[in-house]
Amino acid sequence: MLNGNKVLFSGMQATGNLTLGNYLGALKNWVALADEYECYYSVVDMHSITVRQDPAELRRRARALLTLYIAAGLDPEKSCIYFQSHVSGHAELAWILSCFTYMGELNRMTQFKDKSAKHADNINAGLFTYPVLMAADILLYQADVVPVGIDQMQHLELTRDIAQRFNSIYGDVFTVPEPYIGKIGAKIMSLQDPAKKMSKSDENPNASIYLMDDPDTIRRKCKRAVTDSEGVILYRDEQPGVKNLLDIYCACTSKTPDEAVREFESCGYGQLKEAVSEAVISVLAPLQERVRDLEKDKAYIDKVIHDNAERAAYASSKTLRKVQKKVGFPERIR
Ligand code: TYM
Repeated sequence: MLNGNKVLFSGMQATGNLTLGNYLGALKNWVALADEYECYYSVVDMHSITVRQDPAELRRRARALLTLYIAAGLDPEKSCIYFQSHVSGHAELAWILSCFTYMGELNRMTQFKDKSAKHADNINAGLFTYPVLMAADILLYQADVVPVGIDQMQHLELTRDIAQRFNSIYGDVFTVPEPYIGKIGAKIMSLQDPAKKMSKSDENPNASIYLMDDPDTIRRKCKRAVTDSEGVILYRDEQPGVKNLLDIYCACTSKTPDEAVREFESCGYGQLKEAVSEAVISVLAPLQERVRDLEKDKAYIDKVIHDNAERAAYASSKTLRKVQKKVGFPERIR
């Protein structure tokens, strides 16, 4: 293992259709970092049930997401790719950590406020304690680094606070994790309202590019993207729609915003949108093809699911036993 055995953890929910934001803000960086760390990439299905799910659909989406991780370039022989619900340590550690997390801290979480407004008929305790489960995910593997988009920063700060609080009582039990936020693409905005992040739960399908969208759909959505009446292509906050298109373009082509602005100097918004859609298609089309190929190999995916759940369970049990001992649970008799 490289980087002095440093550990990386990240996860994604299998809820809704994954968007280009999920790919550019997270998955793309996961792949770029995979060779440098000992990596754990989880499909966090336990998080998904904080919102009501159709069971068959959740199962299907969870498997599709795990397949997507591999299609995106993660190697399950190296990185541990697994379902959160297959490793009971997540729930066990979450309970312990919930006794070290204050109601006031959870009350401040903006995602809780947003989600409870959206699902006013189902404001369950799981939705409230969700960040504790996320802290458990990360701390269970003693992660040094957690690559996420900007929207997860508040949860990550809480994770650090919980780890530090626990360590100050019991000694150095947890590694305090650092966030990893990519330079470009850490917050891809809605194509219809560039003040909002691109989200899988957006009701307007034109607001998001989904990872499995076909080329024509991608072209149509880019064409309809909201811009402004300035008529110049500059990378600045005053033009959030154009800035977002440039961000997408740069994240897909590995160009810098300066390079992109120079490239589009004498272009109109129509040309920019066309270039953005072609850049997106050149990233998503091969990804979609790999997903379709992998989906045919059921036995291979089954083996990944089985073997990696065992690896994750083994790695996580070391931290869990240590924590249980620290808080005073009786030792097991063998
Ligand atoms: P989730 O499933 O909402 O999103 C998965 C990842 O995608 C990033 N992301 C974005 N990045 C850029 N632009 C966007 N518009 C955009 N939308 C989403 C998210 O920041 C995230 O990195 N609570 C987490 C899942 C989770 C987790 C964890 C993450 C559970 N346990 C432990 C890291 C570590 C979530 O709901 O992400």
